[in-house]
Amino acid sequence: MLFWRVKPLDKILETAEKKSLKRQLGPIQLTLLGIGAVIGTGIFVLTAEAAQKSGPAMMLAFVIAAVVCGLAALAYSEIASMIPVSGSAYTYSYGVFGEVLAWVVGWALVLEYAIGATAVCVGWSGYVNGLLNSGVFGLVEPGTLSLPAWLQTGYFSGGGFNLLAFLIGIGVTWLLVIGTSKSARVNAVLVAIKIVALVAFIALALPAVQSTNLTPFMPVGWGNPTGGVGVLGAAASIFFAYVGFDAVSTAAEETKNPNRNIPIGLIGALAVCTIFYLLVGYGAAGSVGAQPLMDAAGTVLDPGTPAMAAACALPENAQALVCSNEPLAHVIRVLGFPKIGNLIALAAVVALPSVILMMMFGQTRVFFTMSRDGLLPEALSKVHSRFHTPHVITYLTGIVVSICAALFPVGKLADTSNSGTLLAFAMVSIGVLVLRKTQPDRPRPFRTPLAWIVCPLAVAGCLLLFVNLSMTAKLVFAAWAVLGLILYRVYGYKRSHLAREAAQ
Ligand code: ALA
Repeated sequence: MLFWRVKPLDKILETAEKKSLKRQLGPIQLTLLGIGAVIGTGIFVLTAEAAQKSGPAMMLAFVIAAVVCGLAALAYSEIASMIPVSGSAYTYSYGVFGEVLAWVVGWALVLEYAIGATAVCVGWSGYVNGLLNSGVFGLVEPGTLSLPAWLQTGYFSGGGFNLLAFLIGIGVTWLLVIGTSKSARVNAVLVAIKIVALVAFIALALPAVQSTNLTPFMPVGWGNPTGGVGVLGAAASIFFAYVGFDAVSTAAEETKNPNRNIPIGLIGALAVCTIFYLLVGYGAAGSVGAQPLMDAAGTVLDPGTPAMAAACALPENAQALVCSNEPLAHVIRVLGFPKIGNLIALAAVVALPSVILMMMFGQTRVFFTMSRDGLLPEALSKVHSRFHTPHVITYLTGIVVSICAALFPVGKLADTSNSGTLLAFAMVSIGVLVLRKTQPDRPRPFRTPLAWIVCPLAVAGCLLLFVNLSMTAKLVFAAWAVLGLILYRVYGYKRSHLAREAAQ
């Protein structure tokens, strides 16, 4: 049953030829798209959450998450270069494991991309609200431009309707509908802004590092069996900071010479981001300290909960890194550079939309491919006559992302997104090994080095991080998977093109 309705790889490549998107992305554009997708809310916002879960040992969390992503990137590169078509892990799974697992993976990718995009919308809104509340660099009195409190945060974060998160979702949807190349050009400028902001942060924070700030180094330990805390809990959350590089592979069908350019885009983007994150994590923890807040019993508080909010409201915690919604800007302000801190905040405001763009781009391309395969209604894969983009699915995704962004809190969204990503990474890593056995002679422009060690390690790493996600994220993941299987049974099982062709 599991290895059932496997779609022959040649057929996958042939389908892509029939109804294809225009090939217009080159290697540099692709690496920039990767970096654009990767550097975002994870480093700019969730650094505080990682510190709360693990203290200064969040640096280890950054390393663990990077290692897992690096291993998965090697697997992605082999399979993306073999099957250079839209759809990412979903398409690969269809050609390796068959329709049921492909559907499960595609369904999980909705969590990765759509919920991920949602999380970044919320992170962005936090920075813009911060800027508005503070009077926009002193241009006006603080508070003059503030939105009403109920429009600043979502219902499930104790507010009402997160208006800015909603609006940025809608804006990015429009960018995507008018076309990839225009969006990619905008993206290149935004990537430059993010890199400059991180370089400024590192340049100011590193000289201020003091070893006393790094002790106790691991106040919460490695973690616990239910997940959500400790170094491993932080790694499972901060993994979000690396998510997105695989969106490069979903652009394969729109890439010139994908066999060469996809691996360059994937690995290049991941390498650049890893170096930056390690320096940022060390700089943040070492310069201002990163000790978690505990309750009276000495239990570390869960980020995003009322108890944590109450602890952060105490005057003695006003300067705590773990309480900040803008941790990078906060560190630089605390170090005595308020103007540069504000500029870093501004950089986040200007640049985070590029992450939303890439994640929604990935989502629409996965849906596009699933509908082209008949697993979702075909009307969804309609390509716009003038812009050559799958506009129907883009609008649909954009509306859902924007509404969710208006309601839910950032940390929980990020964890939920990670659950889907980890499944996709694990499946791709297994897929590489299956194809090595079943199709040893198929050309592999990029071969994962030491695949029989690298891929199993990638799977083990994904499993480790998954187990250490918060319980909420694991439960949402399980419920989502059940819902997906029901939908498959009701719709895709009968409508799948592969099934229909077999029946003829
Ligand atoms: N890696 C992306 C971010 O951190 C998703 O925002």
